[in-house]
Amino acid sequence: MALLALLCAAALAALARGTIPPPEEAARMARFVLHNCDWGALATLSAQEGLRGRPFANIFSISDGPPGPGGGSGVPYLYLTDMEISVQDLEINSNASLTVSLAQTPYCKKHRYDPQNPLCAHIIFCGSIVKVSGGKLALDLFGH
Ligand SMILES: *[C@@H]1O[C@H](CO)[C@@H](O)[C@H](O)[C@H]1NC(C)=O
Repeated sequence: MALLALLCAAALAALARGTIPPPEEAARMARFVLHNCDWGALATLSAQEGLRGRPFANIFSISDGPPGPGGGSGVPYLYLTDMEISVQDLEINSNASLTVSLAQTPYCKKHRYDPQNPLCAHIIFCGSIVKVSGGKLALDLFGH
């Protein structure tokens, strides 16, 4: 297993809070969405035979940091294995995009927002996946 993080400039501001931030505060909103979601769709460029070079989106569990003050960093972490075909893609090309939506929380259903509605906040990270070392970190992030 390898622990990887998608590093990106999309989420950089204040800590996520319990209530949804105003939509115009994009960075706060991005942190909020990431903090409140457990999974996302990770798109890679496929390295598979017959799909090579095509976009390939797959579902992964995510974390935004360990519980406590070190968490809510705005950096999405994924716990990945190289047996996973998306990870095999990343070994060839680490560029990726991660989409995370409040549609997976009760928020959008409660407000009757379609997942496509911009009010059902979702964030799209673009960047590259880098390996983060340390089994301790993996336990902090995913060992609940
Ligand atoms: C990843 O994306 C960057 C642009 O951000 C590009 O320069 C680079 O060539 C890409 N890497 C590969 C392996 O295609």
